[in-house]
Amino acid sequence: MSSGESFFVTTPIFYVNDVPHIGHAYTEVAADVLARWHRQRGDDTWSLTGTDEHGQKILRTATANGMAPQEWADRLVETAWKPLLQTVDIANDQYIRTTDPAHERGVQAFIQQLRDDGHIYEGVYEGYYCVGCEEYKTRDELVETADGDYAGELLCAIHSRPVEILKEKNYFFRMSDFQQQLLDLYGSQPDFIQPESVRNEIIQFVSQGLEDLSISRSSFDWGVKVPWDESHVVYVWFDALLNYVTAIGYGDPQRVEEFRRRWPAVHLVGKDIARFHAVIWPAMLMAAGLPVPKRVFGHGWLLVGGEKMSKSKLTGIAPQQITEAFGSDAFRYYFLRAITFGQDGSFSWEDLSARYQAELANGFGNLASRLIAMIARYRGGAIPEAEIDAEIAELAARVTADADDAVGRVEIHQAIAHVWRLVDRLNLYITEQEPWVLAKDAARARRLDQVLATAAHGLGALAVLLSPVMPKATARLWTALGGEGAVQDVPLLQATEWKAQTTGSVQALEALFPRIEEPEAGAA
Ligand code: MSP
Repeated sequence: MSSGESFFVTTPIFYVNDVPHIGHAYTEVAADVLARWHRQRGDDTWSLTGTDEHGQKILRTATANGMAPQEWADRLVETAWKPLLQTVDIANDQYIRTTDPAHERGVQAFIQQLRDDGHIYEGVYEGYYCVGCEEYKTRDELVETADGDYAGELLCAIHSRPVEILKEKNYFFRMSDFQQQLLDLYGSQPDFIQPESVRNEIIQFVSQGLEDLSISRSSFDWGVKVPWDESHVVYVWFDALLNYVTAIGYGDPQRVEEFRRRWPAVHLVGKDIARFHAVIWPAMLMAAGLPVPKRVFGHGWLLVGGEKMSKSKLTGIAPQQITEAFGSDAFRYYFLRAITFGQDGSFSWEDLSARYQAELANGFGNLASRLIAMIARYRGGAIPEAEIDAEIAELAARVTADADDAVGRVEIHQAIAHVWRLVDRLNLYITEQEPWVLAKDAARARRLDQVLATAAHGLGALAVLLSPVMPKATARLWTALGGEGAVQDVPLLQATEWKAQTTGSVQALEALFPRIEEPEAGAA
């Protein structure tokens, strides 16, 4: 079944100044679950991720490590950022690097068009800049401290480090022209920015008035050259945002159709960079006469010990610390289930461990093991052909529809919670129906058939519905259920009709979520 509807989802492109932590993996996983879900429901899906490799921050990091920036970026991409995708089992369609020549050409085509259409002028920028944020700052965004190493200096509130004072001849984008159009956009397309808290903050920010944006730098040269003035490079954010369109062919006359088919996108970003995506980016697109994004979703932060996790504060946790102990499926499930998508969430090893045990091992995993073992023992492995209890059939159909609606609203935690209603109900159903008691009474063989068929009906639907979240465990479960082909090829909205794509016989299943050795305590 193919609805053919286009669904294009993106993650931010990550700075290659450092290696990934679980905050970065969180966005990757969320985007991947959305992409897998849409792909499986038959939508014309495209998922994009990548790395942001230009700008002063990367240049300084490379220099500090005695390397040329390109060499540094190549190394980080190959040893850290691409491997992250394996670690958390991402099935992205494309990986973009801002140093890709096709991207650089697209950036130049875009900026030239804006220049030709009168949206760019030359001026002098005088003000503050935080290299950590790669962002121009106003005075009221800075904090002053009376003590410590930086006493008396103006610090970036996010990085707690001094900002730099710039005075440069720059090219400016007339962003202020777009204030009203942006406010109209937020008003007419209420789900353009999600969640509500981020939307309100953006509307308030834009309502206060917009300044023009400096979009070039001339004091260093690690970036895309401004086509009409090669002594300037394009401002790193202006360059980076364009990845979303250059990836799918913007600026390439050979790829016009592809661009038209895929654009606009759903952007998943951390709330700290929502402003770039919901203000600067749509203004750039409006100036170029291109459609604005479908949606910008600003998710919350992962907190460790109550603070935004970060490498510089030494609270960074590498994704593989978790996946090595619990597996990639548990990683994906845990972060998307335990944290309301859009809100901040605290990470702790204890909580992860408790949910793994209760929800994955005892909840879903045990349901699968018990049922498959009973079908093997009582029916020689053949899933009985029998009437399905209406209550379970209805619930399975309802959670399929409810989860799909929730994914459509980017409420990923809610989608999983809906599916879990079926996990919990099936566990209870088996306890209530006591198949092991029915099995002792030959007169109740028909009822045993119905109970096993009903529970299997639900379990097969779970394999299909949970495959976007836990691809590995559900692939194993699918094989154990006699599935033919790959579970992700079973159309999602027909999850309850899974049996037609199986042999009808079960095979042995090793525990989906085995008991684990406690991971090293104190790692967080
Ligand atoms: N390069 C820019 C994005 C350009 S997109 C056109 C950038 N890169 S980043 O590597 O610094 O951050 C990427 C993403 O990671 C951001 O969305 C940020 O919110 C997210 N996170 C960084 N720390 C995080 C947590 N502790 N928790 C959740 N997300 C976090 O910004």
